[in-house]
Amino acid sequence: MHDIVAIYTNGETAVHHVARAVRDLGVYSQVVFTPAMLASLGAQAIILCDETTAPEASVPMLALDSTHPIDVEALKHFLFETAALTASWSLEAFIEEQVRRIKEQVGDKRVLLGLSGGVDSSVAALLIHRAIGDRLVCVFVDHGLLRKGEAAMVEQLFREHHKINLVKVDAEDRFLTALSGVADPEEKRKIIGRLFIDTFHDAGRALGEISFLAQGTIYADVIESQNPAKAEGLAIKSHHNVGGLPADLQWELVEPLRELFKDEVRKIGAILGLPSQLLTRHPFPGPGLGVRCVGAVTKERLNTLREIDAIFIDEVRKAGLYDEVFQAIACLLPVKSVGIRAGGRSHQEVCSLRAVQSVDAIHASWYPFDANLLRSISTRILSEVPTVSRVLYDISDKPPATIEWE
Ligand code: XMP
Repeated sequence: MHDIVAIYTNGETAVHHVARAVRDLGVYSQVVFTPAMLASLGAQAIILCDETTAPEASVPMLALDSTHPIDVEALKHFLFETAALTASWSLEAFIEEQVRRIKEQVGDKRVLLGLSGGVDSSVAALLIHRAIGDRLVCVFVDHGLLRKGEAAMVEQLFREHHKINLVKVDAEDRFLTALSGVADPEEKRKIIGRLFIDTFHDAGRALGEISFLAQGTIYADVIESQNPAKAEGLAIKSHHNVGGLPADLQWELVEPLRELFKDEVRKIGAILGLPSQLLTRHPFPGPGLGVRCVGAVTKERLNTLREIDAIFIDEVRKAGLYDEVFQAIACLLPVKSVGIRAGGRSHQEVCSLRAVQSVDAIHASWYPFDANLLRSISTRILSEVPTVSRVLYDISDKPPATIEWE
């Protein structure tokens, strides 16, 4: 077993980076908010943040008054001299330990995982697959609201390349029928969320005896849900659970990424053989293009949006800016505008492009692309997508404008 350091805080300021700094020095660390959490962690050393009162404990303690910036030399001194800890924690060691834990937890039973093609569920899939092979069954719901080529990419990568037991559910008709004529954003989110759960459950039941449900929950979600100072923030973000699964399920949970920060999840994904294109992909909402097709969702509008999105992302990648922006988004607006095509006037779709820089998706600033790049993107869209007559670029910061349009 490796040494553990507790990062003890009242939750007032973010201390994730303190935990990260300790892990980067090869010592496992966890954030705790209460004396009870601290006691159950059984840490070999404690770092006090946010002026928390020193707890009754017989292990070495370090009080940080300020956590910005972190004094790495002082931290090293505390960990390796004062507390005499060993730097034995690494992501490779983590993989081995998780594989052993998953085997122990699951035994000879089967595990169901909802694979979205996003970073977290993809890494969880590979980790669990390494532990139990074919007894992991991944269900991939194609709700028809995915980006161009996405479903094929997921099948190729997981089924063909990694030989993972993958069940793809073609649910496009089911989703588009339910969404037919619905323009209200909240109503759309509710329909997509409800149908996703139903579709996933149906697929899971059809697979026979399954005892466990795997989820790609990561440490940021865990810290956020445990932090007493963040209860309000959680309520604001709750709509983002649309496209996820509810907590009250008949399956026991397997959550192998619960202790990892996002960048550690990416590194583990790379160690397990996931391509960097997948690991560095921009966030994509669970309800998919459903919330980017502003107004009514139809197959035609989705196809138009898929083409626009593919061109936009392709151009941003070619300009070498994909990794510099936090998220690049294409939306279709619920208005038509006049264009001239084949010598005549026609009313066609209007699209809005958006790219933002952000660290946490809570604040975001619009990205100032070079005018020449914007011109080449709009020229390509207008020439390659005949159903579009106008291209706009969104220059709204968050707040007040959210990143997504709906
Ligand atoms: P907003 O639009 O609220 O989005 O500024 C902040 C971040 O969350 C993503 N987002 C979602 N992610 N399910 C998700 O998994 C959702 O329903 C959802 N809605 C928004 C959004 O893309 C951005 O990164």
